[in-house]
Amino acid sequence: MTVVARTGQSDDVAEILVTAEQIAAKVRELGARIATDYQSKDLVLVSILKGALPFLADLMRATPIPLSLDFLEVSSYGAGTESTGAVRILKDLANPIEGRHVLVVEDILDTGHTLSYVFDHLRAQRPESVRLCVLLDKPARRVIPIEIDYRGFEIADKFVVGYGLDYAEHYRNLPFVGVLKPEVYARRS
Ligand code: IMP
Ligand code: MG
Repeated sequence: MTVVARTGQSDDVAEILVTAEQIAAKVRELGARIATDYQSKDLVLVSILKGALPFLADLMRATPIPLSLDFLEVSSYGAGTESTGAVRILKDLANPIEGRHVLVVEDILDTGHTLSYVFDHLRAQRPESVRLCVLLDKPARRVIPIEIDYRGFEIADKFVVGYGLDYAEHYRNLPFVGVLKPEVYARRS
């Protein structure tokens, strides 16, 4: 049997920006607020694949009211770290949202291109309301202004991975949000 030596993903992390414990505490706080705000409303959490998956999974269990789930998948950065501004829907909602209260659950708000596109797409389907919950906000990078109703953490202008966020599709399964060592990017270019 050939054993291929591979470095652990954690070895590639230069710095942890948000710990798993900080995320868990924030998710509990956001879930409690959402449960209060949407009590006895027809709430659908619309999550954007794939990055928002861990956040959605934790947030919905911290939100103790009846709710449904739906998913959108949009094109993102591919293997790079820079947004092109061009957004495409890869997977659309499964169920109608007309007349319902939509809460978009997203991992990170960066330039705002993705969410601005997603909001237009959702509003065209005449929901009763559309609001936004993001775990991470990078305000320094904003190109299109977007109002955030529920914000987890404001972070500096750094490319981050973990808790759903990827670099070239890897590191999504790290339980914290961190920054990679520069040599990780050099390996790919
Ligand atoms: P925006 O369209 O520039 O706001 O970027 C939004 C999307 O880009 C997010 O949903 C992420 O998929 C991705 N993204 C933005 N910043 C980062 C980052 O620091 N790490 C990983 N993905 C990111
Ligand atoms: Mg995303």
